[in-house]
Amino acid sequence: MVSRGCFVVLFHCLISLSWTSENSEHKAKKYTRPCYNEDELLNLCTDPIETCHEERGDEIKLVRIDGVKKGHVRWVELEEGRKHQMITRALKPLLFEIPEFLSEEECDHIIKLAKENGLAMSIAGFDMKAYEGDLDEDMAEADGNWTLDHDEKFAGQFSIWDVNKDSFIDADEVKHFARKRKLLYMRDDEVSAMYERLQLSKILEDGKLSRQAFAKINIKKILWYMDFLKEKSPQHRPRFSEQTWLRQDKNSDPVLRRLLERITKLTQLPEIVIQGGEWMQVVQYQPFGHYHGHLDSNPIEGPTVPCCHQNHFRKSDCRVCRFITILYYLNDVEEGGETAFLIADNTTITPQELENPNATTDEFNLSVNCHMANLVIPPRKGTAIMWYNNFIDPDSGLLGSVDRYSLHGGCDVIKGEKWVANNWLTAPTKYSRHIRSLYDVSG
Ligand SMILES: *[C@@H]1O[C@H](CO)[C@@H](O)[C@H](O)[C@H]1NC(C)=O
Ligand SMILES: *[C@@H]1O[C@H](CO)[C@@H](O)[C@H](O)[C@H]1NC(C)=O
Ligand SMILES: *[C@@H]1O[C@H](CO)[C@@H](O)[C@H](O)[C@H]1NC(C)=O
Ligand SMILES: *[C@@H]1O[C@H](CO)[C@@H](O)[C@H](O)[C@H]1NC(C)=O
Repeated sequence: MVSRGCFVVLFHCLISLSWTSENSEHKAKKYTRPCYNEDELLNLCTDPIETCHEERGDEIKLVRIDGVKKGHVRWVELEEGRKHQMITRALKPLLFEIPEFLSEEECDHIIKLAKENGLAMSIAGFDMKAYEGDLDEDMAEADGNWTLDHDEKFAGQFSIWDVNKDSFIDADEVKHFARKRKLLYMRDDEVSAMYERLQLSKILEDGKLSRQAFAKINIKKILWYMDFLKEKSPQHRPRFSEQTWLRQDKNSDPVLRRLLERITKLTQLPEIVIQGGEWMQVVQYQPFGHYHGHLDSNPIEGPTVPCCHQNHFRKSDCRVCRFITILYYLNDVEEGGETAFLIADNTTITPQELENPNATTDEFNLSVNCHMANLVIPPRKGTAIMWYNNFIDPDSGLLGSVDRYSLHGGCDVIKGEKWVANNWLTAPTKYSRHIRSLYDVSG
């Protein structure tokens, strides 16, 4: 028993290591340390007098609505006298579109609340510490010391760069490195500009860097240049938007509360799950605004890393356990701003192939690949999109493994601005049903 548990835990640690999405660098660092004992978390919060204890934990059973088949339409009455169309748009992941879920007034009201609350830059997947210096000074400093930082030593290996193993690094391979290792999406002209700036242009052969040339150059300058690019131009971030959070509990705005009642009926989830959901996130995207492909739930399993919404003990690592995402379009966008589900119902590519760090595809950059995605939903004011990020664990009826087909992102806004809101319905796992959600303030 003990050894089996240990194997399971280790296995999941390895999984999280090989996973690449936005945040991959952070995650890789976070979860490489040894996993702790299986019981450690199980023993937390079992005493009913502790405030974190969830008395009603045993009542929780998750459900997934039957999608029937792609294109299936049903009508749902979520408030008396008001019927909504609910269209199945994908089965992998299970995803529904509900046009006119919000009225025009409700959309405008939510935007108004968000503006009153104030918006701040979204930093998911973005390392704020990445670059704060002056490029000239830093290049001079790198000239004086070529030694790579410990966690960037890997970049000195030619094989990491040379994906197609032809002993040359071409522009695509530089872009690939930047994307996979720095979460930076470079353009061809930016690769040339970098070579120019670092005075490497003349040693290139046909625009490519040979193995011999690579051995002679200062890799640190390339890495620092990439950090600079990422910091200085927000359109290079994996996510470029501003956001704010709105409370949705009993004392909050009546429109938001009514919305919560509507989604209780829509999802058919127990009230306790709905009450434990995160605050509503409202996001504003300007032109160039986007969010590259990502998952809303962290694909880590096992008891060792607590769900963030239950992290009463402030463990330094936690995983996001978002069973359902409901995304609301709050306005019509002049051009762009679609939500793309990269591999929804795709039969020819697996999430594993997409996540392979050696893959040369560029699916994560939705600026290029938005319309190559299998399911692209254009913004329409009032439309809600609801999907399941996780399966249900068959034994416990609680949060199961992540559905990696739920990979999605926001395509570039080309013209105008885009407003969306997100409701994330978090759920406990079989290890944590007795732990209250930090968001549940119902008393
Ligand atoms: C050179 O840089 C490395 C990595 O940042 C650092 O560990 C080392 O102390 C530096 N050496 C000098 C002489 O500054
Ligand atoms: C996505 O890739 C394209 C083409 O490589 C590039 O022009 C664009 O800048 C990238 N987008 C972002 C946001 O980095
Ligand atoms: C799935 O993805 C592949 C590769 O990205 C693409 O060529 C194919 O058209 C997609 N669609 C389906 C339905 O398989
Ligand atoms: C990526 O390529 C390297 C070198 O060819 C190989 O050792 C490694 O196993 C590959 N990784 C995956 C996940 O396929």
